[in-house]
Amino acid sequence: MSFSLSGELLARPTPFYHYDLSLLRRTLEAVQQAARPRGFHVHYALKANVNEPILRLIKEHGLGADCVSANEVQRALDTGFAPQDIVFAGVGKTDAEITRALAADIWCFNAESAQELVVLNELAGGQNRRARVALRVNPNVDAHTHHYITTGLEANKFGIGLNDLPAVVEQLATLPNLELVGLHAHIGSQITDLAVFAELSQKLNELQTWLEEQGYTLPHLNVGGGLGIDYNDPDTNPIPDFEAYFRTFEQHLIRRPGQQVHVELGRAIVAQCGTLVSRVLYVKRSQQTQFAILDAGLTELIRPALYGSHHHIQNLSSQGDIQPYDVVGPICESSDTFGRAVPLPETQRGDLVVLRSAGAYGEVMSSGYNLREKAEAVYS
Ligand code: LLP
Repeated sequence: MSFSLSGELLARPTPFYHYDLSLLRRTLEAVQQAARPRGFHVHYALKANVNEPILRLIKEHGLGADCVSANEVQRALDTGFAPQDIVFAGVGKTDAEITRALAADIWCFNAESAQELVVLNELAGGQNRRARVALRVNPNVDAHTHHYITTGLEANKFGIGLNDLPAVVEQLATLPNLELVGLHAHIGSQITDLAVFAELSQKLNELQTWLEEQGYTLPHLNVGGGLGIDYNDPDTNPIPDFEAYFRTFEQHLIRRPGQQVHVELGRAIVAQCGTLVSRVLYVKRSQQTQFAILDAGLTELIRPALYGSHHHIQNLSSQGDIQPYDVVGPICESSDTFGRAVPLPETQRGDLVVLRSAGAYGEVMSSGYNLREKAEAVYS
């Protein structure tokens, strides 16, 4: 199916984000159909997109919430996620954020360092509570993805290194206001090679056995998110292969009876339903290149500038001959480039150009640089 916008949307001022809620609904049904029969619980990583209609639909489909700030915890609560379906992760939680999340009695804190555990213990004690914690481990598994979005290698700041784990577990025994409920790992994002999830499972199996030898049983495992999507061909693959993803964990992760296993997916849930819609302001020809200058830029979608990411670009207005265009934004930065030598039908001022697969880490990472106004979001 090829992408189109209704007449009413075609006439809107640009740039704006468009979200296809029916695709989101089908994605949510697919993820639950793959997860539920296999006994996996799906959490949604709010960091990918926090728009209310999107969160509401996600909540209605029975997913939990993975949050990385107290404001995200609050957004999840405001949307109606139950506290027991909320986890709070992040390498730099402030005291004020921990205090707020404790008061909300969320299910669990994913703790990332020895020092964080001490602070968490102290703040929980101050509220006469016992905080449930999962240790985020750094399993040293290479996710084979962009180095800016790989998180599970020893060189990354995330998680507790395997070498440090024995000392941290020993320390736990001295922290009476903490209850160890699980292990957590997240090794990176936009992962398309499922073999790395098998490797992660094996590492978690070993760690779990070791923890049991230390006298801990874990009611909860959280294997993180990271499932990638097809940025090249969103029309052919609008919904990721959730079956293959869960099958990998089903085959490789050794689960204990009654144990809850969470995944926390962001991109795989919301990326494909979002599109950044813009208009061509100018076409400029230089000796080597012709530029299509859009009214959307890195202020609306920073992924290409920040990671060199590819988003499929389409001109919805023209049927002309295909020519190469450097598609750029209006911002005063050379990195404000969405693609070079992009094959597009002959393009003119006023044409509608869309950047696909922008539902995850698009709008949430937008900025007001150059005093730009925030692009609106529309839903259909
Ligand atoms: N859990 C944790 C602990 C995470 O750090 C992340 C993402 C997720 C879950 C969700 O990962 P996902 O399923 O979306 O891959 N801004 C970058 C992506 C950063 C991902 C950060 N962590 C991008 O635009 O590609």
